[in-house]
Amino acid sequence: MGTKQSKEISSSSERQEQVGDPDKETVMEEQNTTEKQVSCVVVGAGQRGSGYATYAKSFPDLLKIVAVADPSESNSSRFKKTHNIDDSMVFSGWKELATMDKMADFACICTPDRVHKDAAMAFIKKGYHILLEKPMATSEEDCTEICEACKEHNVMLCVCHVLRYYPPNLKIKELIESGIIGDVVTIQHLEPVGFFHFAHSYVRGNWRNTEQSSFSLLAKSCHDIDLICSWMPTQCKRVSSFGSLNHFKPENKPKDAGNRCTDCSVESTCPYSAVKIYLDRAKRGNFRWPVSIVTDVEDLEVLKEKLQTGPYGRCVYECDNDVCDNQVVNMEFEGGKTASFTMIAFTESVCARQTKVFGTLGELTYNGDIEVDHFDFLSKQRKTYYCTSNATAGLGGHGGADFHLVQNFIKAVAENDPSYIKSGIDETLESHRIVFAAEQSRLSGKTYQRTDDGKWVVS
Ligand SMILES: NC(=O)c1ccc[n+]([C@@H]2O[C@H](COP(=O)([O-])OP(=O)(O)OC[C@H]3O[C@@H](n4cnc5c(N)ncnc54)[C@H](O)[C@@H]3O)[C@@H](O)[C@H]2O)c1
Repeated sequence: MGTKQSKEISSSSERQEQVGDPDKETVMEEQNTTEKQVSCVVVGAGQRGSGYATYAKSFPDLLKIVAVADPSESNSSRFKKTHNIDDSMVFSGWKELATMDKMADFACICTPDRVHKDAAMAFIKKGYHILLEKPMATSEEDCTEICEACKEHNVMLCVCHVLRYYPPNLKIKELIESGIIGDVVTIQHLEPVGFFHFAHSYVRGNWRNTEQSSFSLLAKSCHDIDLICSWMPTQCKRVSSFGSLNHFKPENKPKDAGNRCTDCSVESTCPYSAVKIYLDRAKRGNFRWPVSIVTDVEDLEVLKEKLQTGPYGRCVYECDNDVCDNQVVNMEFEGGKTASFTMIAFTESVCARQTKVFGTLGELTYNGDIEVDHFDFLSKQRKTYYCTSNATAGLGGHGGADFHLVQNFIKAVAENDPSYIKSGIDETLESHRIVFAAEQSRLSGKTYQRTDDGKWVVS
């Protein structure tokens, strides 16, 4: 897999310059050279499912969508129109579609977190290859079952760890593997969720409650734990974690605040106000995410009504949320290497991760944009790699990584070659298991260690 990964990075010339005068390099993924068309069924035509499906609009010779399953009438009918799908191929849910004979090469499963496992199992058993949104499932047992079933039925599984396909992250991996920073000793990785993004998704929105979706380390940060594992050359052996829901709870509600932002006397003093997050954006003509999640009708009156009555207008201190708004994870790897991860809600930056990799010969720094910096201890020289993506198909999400993920998975299916999938079945299960162990550590206050059979137990 590593070989194919590096093959797909084309770099311009490399020059070394003095500290403070960074060099340029562009990292881009190749366009899809596969000729064969593959077909898919889309299960869950919401944000992610309809996003991935745009690939078929731009590259109809490479991807054909034959059916859609979604209980949401508005989502399935929009999807049906966009992709010109016959009425007979529109299903009211994954179960209804799964009763049919296999009709495509792969199933793209983008249902809510709690609907991943049963849907995935049904399509795996039918012999579909699986493109499955993260997290794979909401319990370790279910994740294990999915992976075992894929092996038993000989189907490919790609869990949408899109960040593995993000050019700066690929560059970090390439540089580590090149040996340029010597032995990696520790990695520091920060996930800044963004103050309004957190309020939108993890306080008022779909990922606010563990029972209804999953804990935030799994829902938000399984990507990051997976990335750290992909960068680190050895296996994670021990893990510990701390974290809490620190802020978004009733005791922090300001005096005199109302239960709805549209009717709150201290609204103007609150950065998390729904009026600011949604209404003010829409008044400036911006109905895109996160406003589009509140209403798909571009009308200020409709939006106001949704904020007065629906979940997204609630006071952030009066929601049924319980997921952590801050969490740290410490990881120990074979050979005494370590990593520390922080997920934090309270940031200006929205999901622009920051990473430092400390090696015995040098240091890599990534600050959330397109540059990866390398500092070499011996020459004391610095080099900056500018890592951009040539993503097309309207799939620019995650800095183009969404596009590259779909492109690679389609290649894998077309050529029957799983090496295009950058996070294989075993690695994905491994990193999900670390996430479950970290959450257990947070809850129990104990350190967890990996056993030889890949399970995690109290240390
Ligand atoms: N890879 C990433 O970076 C990333 C980013 C955001 C979300 N996600 C994950 O993607 C998944 C989907 O998220 P989303 O933002 O698209 O949510 P969404 O709510 O926009 O879409 C989910 C869709 O699934 C449909 N659905 C519900 N039950 C179904 C069933 N029984 N059969 C078929 N469809 C069903 C819903 O009606 C909805 O249209 C979630 O698991 C989420 O955690 C991943």
